[in-house]
Amino acid sequence: MINGGKPLVGHVSVSGAKNATVALIPAALLANDRCVLENLPLIRDVKVLMEILEQMGAKVREDENGTLEIDSSDLNHLHITNGKVKELRASYYLLGALLARFKEVSMAYPGGCDIGLRPIDQHVKGFRALGAEVEIEHGMINLKADRLVGSHIFLDVVSVGATINLMIAATMAEGTTVLENVAKEPHVVDVANFLNSMGADVKGAGTDVIKIRGVESMHGSTYMVIPDQIEAGTYMIAAAAIPGGDVVIENVIPKHLDSIAAKLTEMGVEVQFNGDSVRVISKGRPKCVDIKTLPYPGFPTDLQQPITSMLTQAEGTSMITESIWEGRFRHVDELKRMGADIKVEGRVAVIEGIRDLSGSNVSATDLRAGAALVIAGLMAKGQTEINNLFHIDRGYENLEGKLASLGAEIKRIKY
Ligand code: EPZ
Repeated sequence: MINGGKPLVGHVSVSGAKNATVALIPAALLANDRCVLENLPLIRDVKVLMEILEQMGAKVREDENGTLEIDSSDLNHLHITNGKVKELRASYYLLGALLARFKEVSMAYPGGCDIGLRPIDQHVKGFRALGAEVEIEHGMINLKADRLVGSHIFLDVVSVGATINLMIAATMAEGTTVLENVAKEPHVVDVANFLNSMGADVKGAGTDVIKIRGVESMHGSTYMVIPDQIEAGTYMIAAAAIPGGDVVIENVIPKHLDSIAAKLTEMGVEVQFNGDSVRVISKGRPKCVDIKTLPYPGFPTDLQQPITSMLTQAEGTSMITESIWEGRFRHVDELKRMGADIKVEGRVAVIEGIRDLSGSNVSATDLRAGAALVIAGLMAKGQTEINNLFHIDRGYENLEGKLASLGAEIKRIKY
């Protein structure tokens, strides 16, 4: 429940990156050993992965500071039918990790946010190129290989998931694997760094080409996840969206925020980087802009929904082109309930800026749609009730607590 219209003022700290974390946890299974992951966000996706790992025979322990210990030396269960797998997309990383270590795995088809078709053909193509037999039947994906052999794999689309999954799968393949046309997102680099800390030989992460020289075995490691670029961007937008906002967002990697900072600056917002923090100062009603979502370093699709909320009150007409997920406009109907003037045609949304949103009863349809509605609620006049918070809990640590500490009138009514 949000009482809107209050500018956000103060300091807020960003948690560990969700989309890195959900890959690091499966990657920890590559070693017949103990791994410690630090600075993990306290979010539902982590809890779900922990439950899956436990059922596979791993020993898992998390403390309240986000340090997770994973001992997978007794891992024995390679047939994962668990319904939990369907709760998050990233469960597909278990395929790459278990294929690499055991040459065999069987898992229910992964689920995740409903934001459009979510094929995994590029993952499958890569597993096959490494020498695995892949069968998809009765809702299960079955992988099996006598041996994995390095290969030259050219991705047809720039896919974060396929890049990370194939990097993980190739760590212990014989010879060298070259992945071309890969994703360059910060979490790709983070996973590569973790793999190297476990004894892998991965080079080129963060560029278009990644080379992986297979090693015989991997060992345990202690590793700290990077800060969450999307959480940081969400607070930057929230600070900028309500006139009078002045927020210092701490624990960020400025380079990861270049595209969102540039867009906010274009909208007339003041953005100042200082070491590992960024200060965002709202200068009143924002100007309209056009945005096209692109793979990193372009404008991230995961911030498209939050910034749409901000643009509903911008001066003039904005156009958003969603080039990654064709179904990522489901928040628009909810924003319309709050008075927004938005037309969607295919992958394009045209937003006519209005003066005021009005509080309403809305529902989160996916994770970032949830964040978008929270921002809209903070901007709106009156009271907004947001339902289906479980989407938000999947990926934002203590969103309402952090916003309340910035002066927002927000409280959770029901868990
Ligand atoms: C990751 O999803 C993120 N999820 C998504 O964040 C994010 O929106 C997306 O990357 C793009 O940045 C996780 O990291 C868990 P992709 P992923 O493979 O890896 C097509 C959030 O809100 N494609 O990069 O599943 C696909 O259809 C979530 O935190 C294929 O065609 O995305 C899409 O158009 C939502 N074949 C494009 O590539 C494939 O085999 C990019 O998808 C794989 C993908």
